[in-house]
Amino acid sequence: MRCDVITLFPEMVTPVLESSMLKRAQEKGLLEVKVHNLRDYTLDKHKVADDLPYGGGAGMVMKAEPILRAVEQIRQPYEQRGEKVRVLLPSPQGRPFTQAYAQELAADSRPMLIVCGHYEGIDERVRIALKPEEVSVGDYVLTGGELPALVIIDAAARLIPGVLGAPESVVEESFSEPLLEYPHYTRPGEVRGITVPEILLSGHHEAIRLWRRKEALRTTYERRPDLLKDRRLTAEDQQLLDDIIREGVRGTPVPCGEEG
Ligand code: ADE
Repeated sequence: MRCDVITLFPEMVTPVLESSMLKRAQEKGLLEVKVHNLRDYTLDKHKVADDLPYGGGAGMVMKAEPILRAVEQIRQPYEQRGEKVRVLLPSPQGRPFTQAYAQELAADSRPMLIVCGHYEGIDERVRIALKPEEVSVGDYVLTGGELPALVIIDAAARLIPGVLGAPESVVEESFSEPLLEYPHYTRPGEVRGITVPEILLSGHHEAIRLWRRKEALRTTYERRPDLLKDRRLTAEDQQLLDDIIREGVRGTPVPCGEEG
């Protein structure tokens, strides 16, 4: 997967790309990310990338020209090779970013170019001229597109075959199916008096698989029943879910959004 990021704040983006799995993915040649400083695409002495809004009001607006210049220059070498670039603009008004969206990006052979906005907004002519794909990472407002850009890259990159150690961990996990995760345990066997469920020590692979499946269904049923609503369950899942419902809600899980 290839990705270019245009930002006024490369220092927000680079350290994350140089850590952990994203770093490893780049070292393995499975991911290539280039971060470009938007100021390098300004033409004036003071490298101004923002200005006051026409019509007045609070805050600054990112100027169109440096962004358009950056996008045009960065995508030029790709287009010379006949490659179409997928331009993404993180924005709260964009298409909701989901696991399915991440999978779509991971499977796309086109290079991505993520334009990070900041301040109150960006000059509308960027949208008009580039017709970027707007992507929202959630119904809340962040200070800029840098964190969403990292979320998008991280979620897509880990789906590229070879980026994660065990491929089954990608298939099994939350949202790809979509079910929430089952609980995980590692050594030691007891922490603060809390022990590991017996079944995980039993060595019975099929029993462990069923337990995990049931716990994943339980977490989903208790915390995100909406994820089960339009889902066609296998006979096994239906049986497990019936058992869960019969057993009743246990412990103290609180449905999302109903805390406090
Ligand atoms: N920029 C600011 N808030 C955002 C959000 N929720 N998603 C994507 N980009 C954003």
